Amino acid sequence: MKIMPKVVVLRLGHRPQHDRRLSTHVGLTARALGADGLILADVGDKRVEETLHKVVRNWGGDFFVHTRVPWRRAVKEWRSNGGIVVHLTMHGDPVDGIVPKIRGKDVLVVVGAEKVPREIYGLADFNVAIGNQPHSEVSALAIFLDRFFGGSELKKKFPGAKLAIPQRCQRLNCSPQADHHHRAKRFRAAPRNIRQKGE
Ligand SMILES: C[S@@+](CC[C@H](N)C(=O)[O-])C[C@H]1O[C@@H](n2cnc3c(N)ncnc32)[C@H](O)[C@@H]1O
Repeated sequence: MKIMPKVVVLRLGHRPQHDRRLSTHVGLTARALGADGLILADVGDKRVEETLHKVVRNWGGDFFVHTRVPWRRAVKEWRSNGGIVVHLTMHGDPVDGIVPKIRGKDVLVVVGAEKVPREIYGLADFNVAIGNQPHSEVSALAIFLDRFFGGSELKKKFPGAKLAIPQRCQRLNCSPQADHHHRAKRFRAAPRNIRQKGE
């Protein structure tokens, strides 16, 4: 029985000189919000790969990073394995109308950098807009994943982590009862509360 749909993010148009930080953030967002992996289309970027691999080593889970994959091949293979392709674009259809049609399916989520090849509009099963204003691939991806998983992605477990936020610290930081002064102190203290597992 299939438990969770597979979700992979395909990043188009990465330019190592310009997009390194943003593509890394696309990967971090994908991982933290429930996706299984990131494909960096057509180019390689060791720094993006290394940063994401390091986060996976420290914070757990199974997130993969593939680079230099020709984007048409990624789309074709995904579809031939029965998955659907969702292209995030401000020119698409509103996300709230699309999510009920695709929930539970394996989804390749395509996000662009500066410009995307026109062809992707025709190859995608759905062109999906997160509002019709231009913003960012990171914000578009985050909102899409949250709508797709219906919020459950925030409870995802990341097995094998070397680092973790202690339960007590999580509770204190989230406590609506904590007064402003205490909350501020606790937020300042938070980084020191991140401990190696087993300490
Ligand atoms: C800097 S934007 C590029 C904007 C570009 N002019 C366009 O036509 O989408 C980079 C990526 O962010 C995503 N994006 C930006 N705004 C979006 C929106 N309102 N809805 C969905 N995706 C969006 C798209 O994947 C886009 O390729």
